Order: sequence, then C-alpha cells, then structure tokens
Amino acid sequence: MVVRVAIIGASGYTGGELLRLLALHPYVEVTVATSREYVGKPIHIAHFNLRGYYRNLRFSKLDLDTIINSADVVFTSLPHGVSLQYVPKLLESGLRVVDLSADFRLKNPESYRIWYDFEHPYPDLLAKAVYGLPELHREELRGAMLIASPGCNATASILALAPLVKAGIIDTSRIVVDVKVGSSERGSNPTIGSHHPEREGAMRPYEADGHRHAAEVIQELSLLAGRIVNVSLVPHSVGSVRGVLASAHSWLLREVSDIDLFRVYSELYSKEPFIRIIRGVPPGYPDPKYVIGSNYADVGFALELRAGRVTGFAAIDNLVKGAAGQAIQAFNIAMNFEETLGLKLPPLKPA
Ligand SMILES: NC(=O)c1ccc[n+]([C@@H]2O[C@H](COP(=O)([O-])OP(=O)(O)OC[C@H]3O[C@@H](n4cnc5c(N)ncnc54)[C@H](OP(=O)(O)O)[C@@H]3O)[C@@H](O)[C@H]2O)c1
Repeated sequence: MVVRVAIIGASGYTGGELLRLLALHPYVEVTVATSREYVGKPIHIAHFNLRGYYRNLRFSKLDLDTIINSADVVFTSLPHGVSLQYVPKLLESGLRVVDLSADFRLKNPESYRIWYDFEHPYPDLLAKAVYGLPELHREELRGAMLIASPGCNATASILALAPLVKAGIIDTSRIVVDVKVGSSERGSNPTIGSHHPEREGAMRPYEADGHRHAAEVIQELSLLAGRIVNVSLVPHSVGSVRGVLASAHSWLLREVSDIDLFRVYSELYSKEPFIRIIRGVPPGYPDPKYVIGSNYADVGFALELRAGRVTGFAAIDNLVKGAAGQAIQAFNIAMNFEETLGLKLPPLKPA
C-alpha cells in the first residue's frame, strides 16, 4: 500500500523535516511539495541535506486541484492563519489533513479571539479536529481526518506535566512553565530578532506576559484533570538551533517521595515508544542535546520537599517531536500503520 502525500509549505523548516523523515517511510510517496519561492526547483535547492533524495520531485505552486488529484493525505506546514484558507476544501474533497500550524489546535472558538486575535471561521472543524499528541489522544487519532499537530513549546510543557496532573498530586491553580527554545522554532524566514547575529549566544525571554502555546497547555491539562488548570508559560530564546526544554514548576498538595514520582511518570509513559524517563544516571535530567534529530521526548522530575515543590522536565527536538516527527506519528496512528514507521532514528551525538 502506498499513500500519496502532499506537503504544503515544503520549503520551510518543518516541511523540510517532513521530507527528511518521510524519505524513510515504507508506505509513503511524496507526490507534491509546494513553495512560492522555489516553484520548478529541485528539493535540494531549499534543503541541501536532501541532495540525492526526491530526484523525481520538484517544488510546485500551491494549487488545490492538483493536490486533490494527486494526494491522499496533506501535511500543511504553513504560518498560522494560512492553513485555514486551504484545509476546509481539502477535507471536503475527502483528503486527510495533518496541520502543523495552530489553526485547529484549540477547541473553543473564543480562544482564538483571546489568544490569536481573530474570529475563527470554522468552529465546526475545531470540534472535529483531533489534537495530535499521541500520548494523550491515541484512540481519537485512529481514523482521524483532521489532525491538529501540537506546538513545540506546548508538547514539551504538556509531557512534563501530564503525569503530575493526572495523578492529582499538584496544585493545578498555579503552575509555571519555563521554556528554553532554539532558533529554528521561528521558522526559516529570519526576523530582526531571530537571524543569526542577533540570536547567537542569546538568552532572552519573549512573550513572557502570555505566550500563545499556554492556551494549548491549559486546554489539554484541563481535559486531563477534569477541571480548569491554570498555567503560565514563559519561553526563552537560547543560542542553539534546535531543542526545547520545559521546566514546569508546581506545588505539591501532599508529601510524596522520589519513588512515588517515578511511579507516576512510569504509569503514563512506560509503554510509550517515544518517551524516555531520565532519572539518576548523568546528566540526570532531560537535555535537548540528547534527543536532537529524533522523535524522542526525554522527561524527568525533581522533588524539593523543603519548598513543597516538584519540577517536571521534558526535552524534545522542536522540529521532530515538536513538529514533523509527531505529525508523522499521528499520521501513522490515523492510517492504522505501526506508530513508529519512519521514526526509528536514534538521536545524534554530539549535536
Ligand atoms: N519551527 C518549529 O519549530 C515549529 C514547531 C511546531 C510547529 N510549527 C508550526 O509549523 C508551521 C510552519 O513552521 P516552519 O517553522 O516550517 O515555518 P517556515 O520555515 O517559515 O516555513 C513556512 C512555509 O510556508 C510557506 N508559506 C509561507 N507563507 C505562505 C502563504 N501565505 N501561502 C503559501 N505558502 C506559504 C513557505 O514557503 P514559500 O515562502 O516558498 O511559499 C514555507 O515553505 C507554522 O505554523 C509553525 O508555527 C513550527
């Protein structure tokens, strides 16, 4: 069985990672890769690392009729607010869509007004979309036609906190997530703050008074808790190219031991193919450096009983578990494929 895949926005960073990972997928043929800038050019002109791959594919302009005629599944790697211009017609034409933007991640249309400053035109599709975090939504992902792939900061934050929230051992009215993130998070189009001379060596908070990914974290953890969970999320730009580290600070409702916490994390994650619980052995805590290039999320925790506090940690590669890898994991589940197909890559070292 071969599934024909189109990637809209294939010249960008997440599009490039989709192409890199799908090159190894045994049941996928990429038939369309769109770009406005590189129309007619070979794939390696935008993605130098893919020289020798996709010899028969060239970037094409975004034409929905062509895509509908030549693909079964579409990955949309477009900026926020652009995906929703194309997704409804693709769905109406019977194609499955995995959207990497934020356009379908939030269930409540009102949240788009609050966090993204626009009126969402398709509340019916928000209801249908499945939030593509397999660790929390695996069953709903089976057969899903619209998958809203989570944000990278949100993925790390949710994975760090979900075991603690599910176990009911922390105060869910005040949680603070400190996120460190590398420059590729801002995409391939440099801005004054994100191009190399400004970014190299930086350690800089941004959107510290209400980052948009907090909306996803609140939504998902509230679903898990069965009540509203209040989360503040403060991201920091750091000098690396890839990687997200979420350090989620929370306060205990009752005394627990280190072993209790290990059980809590193991209960949720021991069977997960892409989660590794990091404990004890140096470096002791999750570090994005040791997941780069892979779909792994390394998670861990630190207990500080004196302060009544537990910190959950999660480290991911923002472009893999935080974007393209997770999107393919969700696609595999939706298609009823083995979940790890195309994703069994160990991380790089040194990275
Ligand atoms: N970077 C990350 O770590 C990350 C992680 C998770 C989710 N995401 C989300 O994934 C999406 C893509 O991110 P990215 O980092 O890949 O961005 P990117 O590198 O800037 O790529 C965006 C792609 O979309 C195309 N594009 C831009 N505007 C368009 C328009 N108006 N119409 C059609 N095509 C357009 C661009 O190519 P042309 O200009 O050649 O058309 C490019 O191929 C975003 O919504 C982002 O928030 C990113």
